[in-house]
Amino acid sequence: MKKQWWHGKVAYQIYPKSFCDSNGDGIGDIKGIIGKLDYLKGLGIDIIWISPIYQSPFVDQGYDISDYYKIDPAFGTMEDFDRLLEEAKKRDMYILMDLVINHCSDRHEWFQKALEDPKGEYGKYFYFEKGKDGKAPSNYRSYFGGSVWEPVPGTDLYYLHLFAKEQPDLNWENVKVREELFRMVNWWLDKGLAGFRIDAIMNIKKTDGFPDYEPDGEDGLVRCTRMIEEAEGIGEFFRELKQETFAKHDAFTVAEVFNMKEGELEKFVGEEGYFSTMFDFAPLCTTLGENGWYDAPGYEFFRWRKALMESQKECRKTGFFANIIENHDEPRGASTYLPDYAQNDDGTKMLATTSVLLRGLPFLYQGQEIGMKNCKMESIDEYNDIDTKNQYKIALEAGLDEEAAMNVCLKHSRDNARTPMQWSAGENAGFTTGKPWLKINPDYKERNVEAEEKDQSSVLSYYKELLALRKSEDYGEVFTYGDFVPAYEGEEMLLAYYRQDERKKVLVAANFGKGETSFLLEKEGKEILKNRKDVLLREKELILPGCGVAVVEL
Ligand code: GLC
Ligand code: CA
Repeated sequence: MKKQWWHGKVAYQIYPKSFCDSNGDGIGDIKGIIGKLDYLKGLGIDIIWISPIYQSPFVDQGYDISDYYKIDPAFGTMEDFDRLLEEAKKRDMYILMDLVINHCSDRHEWFQKALEDPKGEYGKYFYFEKGKDGKAPSNYRSYFGGSVWEPVPGTDLYYLHLFAKEQPDLNWENVKVREELFRMVNWWLDKGLAGFRIDAIMNIKKTDGFPDYEPDGEDGLVRCTRMIEEAEGIGEFFRELKQETFAKHDAFTVAEVFNMKEGELEKFVGEEGYFSTMFDFAPLCTTLGENGWYDAPGYEFFRWRKALMESQKECRKTGFFANIIENHDEPRGASTYLPDYAQNDDGTKMLATTSVLLRGLPFLYQGQEIGMKNCKMESIDEYNDIDTKNQYKIALEAGLDEEAAMNVCLKHSRDNARTPMQWSAGENAGFTTGKPWLKINPDYKERNVEAEEKDQSSVLSYYKELLALRKSEDYGEVFTYGDFVPAYEGEEMLLAYYRQDERKKVLVAANFGKGETSFLLEKEGKEILKNRKDVLLREKELILPGCGVAVVEL
């Protein structure tokens, strides 16, 4: 495999609004990030992905961009951003921005001009279509609920938005749109960005003619992914995007890919792939519902483990996945992918180990390293997220009472991950001196960076050890390039695998069960990491208590 500069690195996602506020307005900002670079370096982070900080009306928290060339004043200035790049460089760290190019904001100049004259030049930047028999052009449901078509007042036209109506889809068929976007991407890369996380990118190719499909819900609509899955030729766009931008800068890219067609992995993340890597969402998707959050099956160890193993096996000959247990669109990993009895620090460390040592690029999400948990809100008004409000409504419509609908949000809301970072036990968790824009999880008194830095047995101390091991001189090579081989597949509640190359073989074994388990290794091994004192290696026998994990060199 051809070596790339980003192989073997560890990445970290910052949700800027909630990371660190430097000026007391209750909103995290770029200066706040700069102040925490040493903390991240100390943790073992090399690459930082920052969720959108471009100018935005924040209907979808910055994923609705009104000017791609501006930093939103809530986060600071372009000078602040340039300083961030410099400060990161001094520390051998790399900055990724979020690239949101399936859609922009309805406040973007292009869309404003398009509305004035939908038949004119800028109208062609978007999708304006005539209605059919007094109804929308087709029957697709948007990701955030309701039709994807919004009528344009005073005309017989509608415009397309797969997400919120304030996020009109850009028309990638128009070469001018592609040129504008490529110019913008190069402008940022020229500044010294290391690359991008690429948002919602599978949506850029639409099916010609927007055909109707059989409705799949009471609202008479059908999920818009039906049309996206059927679209042909998205690869052409990806190839051009890469050629015109990323390839020229040796940039790193990680794509948000859902609904990839079978057998296409090589095209996406192979050596000549469209992207450097893409997130592996398969294990996370095992907790999704058919019709919404309210009918989600919830976490089930066997289903989750199977999905994880399948992904790893699928990718090992092709390229690298980016491995995550949480992000800004998901509830907290430590609250989701552990059985009830394992929702404690031991369990959190176990989950950390099995996730970070997978083959691929580990992406941590802010707060994951201190074991942050889902946050209970008292009423729906305490939530900010557009998707949570929609899913709450869907749950009520499906017949759930308010309490049950709130419980659904507690389990699934994107705001679980968006509550402010917990830096200390001080006022507002040390996140801000003002009023935080979103509720702070009350557990910050115990769970915070300051306290965990002092405690050798904390989740944070463990993460530091784990990341150091992953990148160490002795084991960095095998954890980066070594093969992934499932181990002890017959053992009920065990998640175990080998990472191995010609020189080394390492076993990662975690007991997700309640009670103790033990089994024989193929030979005597050397313990290189464990999360509990009572994880024992006795000659060839490995004894794992419930929530115990061991990393053993064989
Ligand atoms: C992606 C983002 C999500 C956003 C959506 C629309 O899925 O991760 O936060 O709402 O795209 O841009
Ligand atoms: Ca601020």
